[in-house]
Amino acid sequence: MRELTVNLGDRSYPIFIGANLLNQVELYARYFCGEQVLVVTNENLWLPYGENFVAGLAKSLNKVDSVVLPDGEQYKTLAVLNNIFDALLENKYNRRTTLVALGGGVVGDMTGFAASAYQRGVGFIQIPTTLLAQVDSSVGGKTGVNHPLGKNMIGAFYQPQCVVIDTEVLSTLPERELSAGLAEVIKYGLIADSEFFSWLEANMLRLMARERDALIYAIERSCQIKAEVVAQDEKEAGLRAILNLGHTFGHAIEASQGYGQWLHGEAVAAGTVMACELSQRLGWLDATVVERSVALFNMANLPVKPPADMCPETFMKYMAVDKKVLHGTLRLVLLKGLGTAVVTSEFERDCLMQVLRGVA
Ligand code: NAD
Ligand code: GLY
Repeated sequence: MRELTVNLGDRSYPIFIGANLLNQVELYARYFCGEQVLVVTNENLWLPYGENFVAGLAKSLNKVDSVVLPDGEQYKTLAVLNNIFDALLENKYNRRTTLVALGGGVVGDMTGFAASAYQRGVGFIQIPTTLLAQVDSSVGGKTGVNHPLGKNMIGAFYQPQCVVIDTEVLSTLPERELSAGLAEVIKYGLIADSEFFSWLEANMLRLMARERDALIYAIERSCQIKAEVVAQDEKEAGLRAILNLGHTFGHAIEASQGYGQWLHGEAVAAGTVMACELSQRLGWLDATVVERSVALFNMANLPVKPPADMCPETFMKYMAVDKKVLHGTLRLVLLKGLGTAVVTSEFERDCLMQVLRGVA
């Protein structure tokens, strides 16, 4: 088993990474705040994982209940969040409560937000079950729900007590979801670690084949990079925005196509290629890095171009509401070489328009 730390002073917490950790309750029981635990999962994960997990916890804890949410991004809403509060109140949970998120990013973000708000804050443990959640959403404390007018617009920064990453649960993950998670893994190489990027080029097929050692290394390195960034800029005053490479373009793709048509990771892959292309047009990035990125996303079965019918005006409409827009000015995460990301508004608009138009 590997162990990392997210260094945030007295709110620091460990990330455990390994195979078959899910049912090793003794590993994380010490992070429960009190003896009352509410497990939050979804209807897709209840039978393969949730039921046994809750039964295992019930052997050693006084009070364990579960909430099974409907599955899907469309249920990441304030209305569905109330199911968690209903269960907490109906079962008389007090302040010494821990919420355990067993699921992908949707369950993790919602459970964390519920933990931040229930009685003004209770304990929270992340057990992410998708690759995307294991390398990204379970670490760093961004929690929340969507609003009809914007994704993740209602939420809180709220850190968990620990993160438990069990690579065995990835065996049941659909291929498309595995690829979506790999988009975020590739992102870490591009923004922070050229050696990791080269390692990914050499090992992508092993990752696609879900080889345990390769997965553990890729998850560990991704979490390390994320933990280092979060430790320096927990609330995204500046640096943390580099974790959003490709996301401004990607969010525009996701939103314009209708959420759920393109998975988040798929949109991020196409968006990242666009960010690389813009960086190249600005003279900041070598053409070979763009080519290597395209090849790596291809190897991971990810799209490298936005939808053919998406015009520059549509991109601009959605990009204008990006959280990185400051005083009405669009800021983008771009690369100044492989492994070096910047957040900047200093790019020529013509170059951006050429990328949006797909000019070769
Ligand atoms: P998800 O939670 O919707 O999970 C994807 C699908 O995989 C679901 O159908 C789920 O039931 C299924 N699934 C989960 N684990 C499985 C397993 N082990 N075996 C089989 N099926 C499994 O999606 P996601 O990609 O994990 O997360 C996306 C969400 O994460 C978005 O809402 C996004 O906004 C959020 N996010 C948050 C952060 C953050 O920092 N908080 C970062 C990135 C993404
Ligand atoms: N997923 C980007 C962040 O956590 O900041």
